[in-house]
Amino acid sequence: MQATAQSTLPSLQEPFSIGSVRIPNRLVLAPLAGIGNWFVRWQAKRYGAGLAVSEMVSSHAIAYRNRRTLAELLRIEERERCGGPVSIQLFGADPQVMRSAARAAAGAGADLIDLNMGCPVPKVCRSGAGAALLEDPERAIALVAAAREGSCLPVTVKLRCGRRAGERGGVELALRLVREGGAAAVALHPRPASARHAGAPDYALAAELAAQLDVPVILSGGMRSAEQIRAVFAQTGVAAVMLARGSLGNPWLFAQLAGKEQGPPSAEAVLEELSWVIARAQEHLGAERACRYLRKHYPWYVARLGLAKAQARALLARLQRAATLEQAWALLAQGAHMRADP
Ligand SMILES: Cc1cc2nc3c(=O)[nH]c(=O)nc-3n(C[C@H](O)[C@H](O)[C@H](O)COP(=O)(O)O)c2cc1C
Repeated sequence: MQATAQSTLPSLQEPFSIGSVRIPNRLVLAPLAGIGNWFVRWQAKRYGAGLAVSEMVSSHAIAYRNRRTLAELLRIEERERCGGPVSIQLFGADPQVMRSAARAAAGAGADLIDLNMGCPVPKVCRSGAGAALLEDPERAIALVAAAREGSCLPVTVKLRCGRRAGERGGVELALRLVREGGAAAVALHPRPASARHAGAPDYALAAELAAQLDVPVILSGGMRSAEQIRAVFAQTGVAAVMLARGSLGNPWLFAQLAGKEQGPPSAEAVLEELSWVIARAQEHLGAERACRYLRKHYPWYVARLGLAKAQARALLARLQRAATLEQAWALLAQGAHMRADP
């Protein structure tokens, strides 16, 4: 596809802009609910992401000043700006509420606002938000306009190609969100919402949208290895790629794409990075909550240690049971020993 255009394609390491905001390269950390807090975004930046998007945050919870939402989900740290700007993703269906939430996100330090129009979770869709907006274009356009007014920042939208297989309403909506709503970029996840995160993304649809829009199209879906991501980027002509599950516990994927590292990390590097994650989780949530929260992160890192299956299983089970962070750190030290002396 597009063989003639390839020589003029930018590299993943070249900058691009979303409205007035310059992004130093074309590697974006996807919004990841329950995961994409300030330190996960910072981690992606340390390894080479040029832009990181927050987990989705409820516009209602912000507008009604929910304490934990403001303190934790809307927390932006100066340290995470090291490699590029920060985008806060909001979800909701009420333009008034969205205006107020976008203002608060800008006040918290966001450089960009992203609106979620792809979440398939029934509770979200029943409220008219997420993927339900694919079938409510007038409201979707009003939400973009409201977020722009409230934040005075460039507003992007992340959406699906459609709600059900074979539908492509998301592509039509993306065109309208840019032309009528003033969206400054579109992140397309070309799987229908009904498929959740399963099945092959339709990259041809992303190529089609990129050819039609004169604002950046960021492609999400199926970004797993450096080689495959480079091929998809070249094949589709999108402005940037968005890494999601492929980057979980694997910030080295950013480093490979940014040209900073070639191969996979050593076991020592994985353990050191997990130790960094533990320390940041403690800083974010306090030791007690961090202990529980980290259970989600451990499997991603343990899987990269190159341990024999039984050893990996045993180490993971002990980490999951660790009652204190000191215990977790002690287990990491043992993990290093297991590796050195299998
Ligand atoms: C655990 C998890 C949480 C997610 N949370 C969000 C979210 O908050 N907002 C959003 O727009 N997409 C969310 N997504 C979708 C991802 O951003 C991405 O579009 C999707 O995983 C496809 O990319 P992948 O195949 O490379 O993982 C989430 C996906 C996963 C797996």
